[in-house]
Amino acid sequence: MSQVFAKNSTSKLSVKESFVTDENVFWNRRQFIQRFTQSAIGASGLLASGALLASEATQKNENAKPFNTAESLSSEYVVTHHNNFYEFSTSKSKPAELAKDFKPGNDWTVEISGEVAKPGKYSLEDILKFTATEERIYRLRCVEGWSMVIPWTGFQLSQLIKRVAPTSKAKYIEFETLESRSTFPGQRRGSLGFQVLPWPYREGLRMDEAMNPLTLIATGVYGKRLPGQNGAPMRLIVPWKYGFKSIKSIVSMRFVEKQPVNTWQKSAPREYGFYANVNPQVSHPRWSQASERRITDDSFFGVKKMPTQMFNGYGQWVADMYKGMDLARHF
Ligand code: MTE
Repeated sequence: MSQVFAKNSTSKLSVKESFVTDENVFWNRRQFIQRFTQSAIGASGLLASGALLASEATQKNENAKPFNTAESLSSEYVVTHHNNFYEFSTSKSKPAELAKDFKPGNDWTVEISGEVAKPGKYSLEDILKFTATEERIYRLRCVEGWSMVIPWTGFQLSQLIKRVAPTSKAKYIEFETLESRSTFPGQRRGSLGFQVLPWPYREGLRMDEAMNPLTLIATGVYGKRLPGQNGAPMRLIVPWKYGFKSIKSIVSMRFVEKQPVNTWQKSAPREYGFYANVNPQVSHPRWSQASERRITDDSFFGVKKMPTQMFNGYGQWVADMYKGMDLARHF
């Protein structure tokens, strides 16, 4: 593991020719808001690709807290080589390698069903026509105790929700990841015949959480299309919740009346709940959540141990949604 991270690629500036062309086409179609610091641009190779445009909106976004943070970014290499994607593997270093041929395009579809006026199969291409893509630099805190700072690109989930017009009965959204044994080796049964998790991976949000302006559907990271290991081509980002809520490679969104059961809750109900709000005061049954290891560059163990913040530091924008709730019970 440490060997993988010794190969930190902050100096990898070259981007393959074919990929650059593809990216240019993709990003120039969107009003992409560029707000990398000079060092981050260098780290991600964006100067080399020339694919990103600074725009007038840059100014606006710079002041638009909490959509950005001045904290040091985790390197592009670590963000894309230290992953939790059990459909590929339970190892953190393997998804990058196993996902190298998983490159879904804009013809990827999401089935929108349940309590909505406009159900149907929506292609990512169509969704990108009625949503505005922008950059968000968010902290990601994994329930395991590590964290990163990641520059995502994507659109606010609220834009998609408004478009499909939920009925008054829609109280929650249940999300599902693709289920495909040919794509995901981790979904095949092991030699002993058991599966690591019940598939497909499922997650859920309450409607107000889904509509919160912080909630993002990411389609890119570090100014490039989302790589397979990070949940291509579209995944959820809910920055005040533990990382497992941020479901990858979404193929279904069902608007429902009843609170859905998510995969980790189903698999270990005493350890993982529906809400999964980052909370340093509520320990996991097997470890404390009071602090975290911030992974920035070249070490799996992180270079910095720091206190974990309530709601991962986003309390000002989300705490109201949980007023009056016992957060130790609704963990
Ligand atoms: N989504 C799916 N479908 N499968 C997974 O195994 N892991 C979750 C989440 N989304 C996971 C998933 C966990 S535990 C975390 S911490 C984040 O993805 C990690 O996202 P990253 O690999 O992009 O850092």
